[in-house]
Amino acid sequence: MVVKVGVEKRERFKYISHRMKATAKSPANIAFIKYWGRRDKTLNIPENSSLSCNLNNLSTITTVEFSEKYKKDDILIDGKRDDIEVERIISHLDKIRELAKIDLKAKVVSKNSFPNSSGLASSASGFSALALAGSTAAGIKLSEKQLSMLARLGSGSASRSIPDGFVEWNKGISHETSFAKSIYPADYWDLSIIVTIITKDKKDVKNTIGHTMALASPFYPTRLQGIDEKIKKMKKAIKNKDLKTFGEILEAECLNFISIHLTSTPYIIYWEPATIKIMKLCRKLRNEGVEVYFTMDAGPQPVLYCEPRNTKKIVNRLKKEVKELKKVVLNKPHHGARIVNKHLF
Ligand code: DP6
Repeated sequence: MVVKVGVEKRERFKYISHRMKATAKSPANIAFIKYWGRRDKTLNIPENSSLSCNLNNLSTITTVEFSEKYKKDDILIDGKRDDIEVERIISHLDKIRELAKIDLKAKVVSKNSFPNSSGLASSASGFSALALAGSTAAGIKLSEKQLSMLARLGSGSASRSIPDGFVEWNKGISHETSFAKSIYPADYWDLSIIVTIITKDKKDVKNTIGHTMALASPFYPTRLQGIDEKIKKMKKAIKNKDLKTFGEILEAECLNFISIHLTSTPYIIYWEPATIKIMKLCRKLRNEGVEVYFTMDAGPQPVLYCEPRNTKKIVNRLKKEVKELKKVVLNKPHHGARIVNKHLF
């Protein structure tokens, strides 16, 4: 009897160790219509629906391995063990363990292709990669909808990095109804997306705090009132590949969202002087006949949208007129999170 249990245990472990490691690559997404403010903090149920597009050159690769050889969770992000998100990552692993009904500890190694926590959607690519790699490593097969729900529990915007291309996250009213869906594939509209990096510093207010503070802005109820109509108009502009209408809504929404930061208590200012220079340069270029529009997340780095034929001209002007510019990353709309074969360890 004792021997039999031992064999069974060894065999089970062999099977488990075979399937207990997986790697996923997931894109960052930049929202056209922003998620800002939550009606449920634990489940990350947002106050409003949002729209975004995945980016091909800003991504996170994450390998997760669950094993009896780990005595505690070991999290390495961009080579460091002291990332500010370690606690949130462990609590996300707990959710995956609960779903898979396992209690093994994990090693997680994650690499970002861009500076994390600097207002460039690293939590979106990070938690979507973790949800896919983690659930696969734990041996559970989830549908796209379930993966989007799981990613949302890690970070709201991560729900939008699971489906392909242009994505809508329907706010829903519960865990089961709040998830993201693709509205158009990545190749539907050949947009050029220029991500400007003007600082690599980590931002001092985490989004999770910003979401809470937003509710204290006197403008917040007005923002929410107009948002469904704005989403409708934005979806129509995407459908028609109408860059002018798309861009006008994009900028107005970005400034509306920023007005909430400025009027929250306490207020938040994410911008650097170079942020404003780039915003003004967009208008200047448009006056010269080059169509380009900005948005940005809760951070100082503007993200510009234009037709591919204008990319070079715009990048040259950025380099010439914005001395603080550290880097530009050129992007196209991209598919969502995928399993990849090459592990990071
Ligand atoms: C400004 O998804 O980072 O990027 O749910 O607390 O992780 P948590 O917040 P997060 O918030 C994203 C806010 C935003 C807008 C957006 O991506 O829609």
